[in-house]
Amino acid sequence: MTIIVTGGAGFIGSNFIFHMLNKYPDYRIICLDCLTYAGNLSTLEPVMDNPNFRFVKESITDRDAVYKLFEEEHPDMVVNFAAESHVDRSIENPEVFLDTNIKGTAVLMDACRKYGIKRYHQVSTDEVYGDLPLDRPDLFFTEETPIHTSSPYSSSKAGADLLVLAYHRTYGLPVTISRCSNNYGPYHFPEKLIPLMIANALNDKPLPVYGKGENVRDWLYVEDHCRAIDLIIHNGRVGEVYNVGGHNEMKNIDIVKIICKELGKPESLITYVADRKGHDMRYAIDPTKIHNELGWLPETKFADGIKKTIQWYLDNKEWWETIISGEYQDYYEKMYKNR
Ligand code: NAD
Ligand code: DAU
Repeated sequence: MTIIVTGGAGFIGSNFIFHMLNKYPDYRIICLDCLTYAGNLSTLEPVMDNPNFRFVKESITDRDAVYKLFEEEHPDMVVNFAAESHVDRSIENPEVFLDTNIKGTAVLMDACRKYGIKRYHQVSTDEVYGDLPLDRPDLFFTEETPIHTSSPYSSSKAGADLLVLAYHRTYGLPVTISRCSNNYGPYHFPEKLIPLMIANALNDKPLPVYGKGENVRDWLYVEDHCRAIDLIIHNGRVGEVYNVGGHNEMKNIDIVKIICKELGKPESLITYVADRKGHDMRYAIDPTKIHNELGWLPETKFADGIKKTIQWYLDNKEWWETIISGEYQDYYEKMYKNR
C-alpha cells in the first residue's frame, strides 16, 4: 500500500505519518509538503531514514509536480492534510487560503482521476458547520448539519468539501471526508491557542484571551484523530462524511487557567484582548456515526492529554523556541499589538 500524505510536515499530518509508519510497517508513506511557515522538516527527522518513507517538497497547487509524483509512486491512497489552517491569518489574508485549500484540493483530485486511486481522503473541519449557541447545550453538529461558514478559512474548507463530494458524484472518485473538532498534542504550531498559551506562560508573557474567553471548543487529542482517519480510509464507506470529536467541550478561559495551574504560573498573566472578527461561539461534534459504523471512540481524556502535551512542550523547547524566534516574531507583533 502506497499513501501520499499531504501537509505531513505540519501538526496533524506529522502525527498521522508517525502513526501509520508505526502501525503498518509494510506501507510506503510519501509526504508531500511545500513547507510553508507552518511546515517543519525537523518534525519529520525521526522517520527521514525509514526506507518506507519519502519526503517531497512541492505544493499541492503545482499540477506538474503533483502529476509527476503520481507517475513515480502510483499511490493507492491520498490523505490530504495540506492547508492553510489558521483562522486569524485567513481574516488578514484570505487569498492563499483559496489557492491552497480549494485549488490544491482540485489538483490532487484531478491527479487521482487521471492516474486512478483506491481512496482520496479529505481532512476537513467542524468549522464548516459554523457555530452553535452557548444556551443550547442539547445541539451538536451531525453530518446532516447544513454548511454555514464564518471565516475565510472555514469557507475555503467548505468549498473544498463541496468539490470533493462533487468529484464523487460527477466522476465517481472514491472519496471520504472527515470533519474533526479542535486537536491538541505534540507539534502543534505555536500560533494556536494551547501551544501559544504554554509558550507565553513559560516565558512569563501575557496570555491574550479573545473577548471574554467564553467561546467553547471540543478538544481532541491528536492521536485519537489519527486513529479515526486510519479507520475511515480502511473501513469507511466511499462518498461518506464522518464527524470526529471527543465530547470534550471547554471554554477557552478554562483551558488557559488549567495551563497556568499545570505550569505554576499566576492567572494574572491572563490579558483579555479584542475579540476575533466573526468569532464562532461554540463547536460541538456528535460522533455517533463514526462510533456506530467504525467503532471509533476517543481514548485520551483531556485531563491526561493536556498533561502529556504540556510535558511535550517542556521536553521539546528547542522545537518551538526555534519557531517563535524566527518570522513568527513579526506575525505575533502584527497580530497582537493593537488588540
Ligand atoms: P498545520 O498548519 O499545522 O500544517 C499544515 C501543513 O500543510 C504544513 O506542513 C504546511 O507546510 C503544509 N502546506 C500548506 N500549504 C501547502 C501546499 N500548498 N502544498 C503542500 N503543503 C502545504 O495544520 P494542521 O493543524 O496540522 O491541520 C491539518 C489539516 O487538518 C488541515 O486541513 C486542517 O484544516 C485540518 N484540521 C485541523 C484541525 C486542528 O485542530 N488543527 C482540526 C480539524 C481539521
Ligand atoms: O475546530 C477545528 C479548527 O480548530 C481547525 O479547523 C483549525 O485549523 C484550527 O486552527 C482550530 O481553529 P480555532 O480557531 O478553533 O483554533 P485556535 O487555536 O486559533 O483558537 C481556539 C480558540 O481560542 C478560539 O475561540 C480563539 C481563541 N484564541 C486563540 C488564540 C490564538 C484566543 O483566545 N487567543 C489566542 O491568542
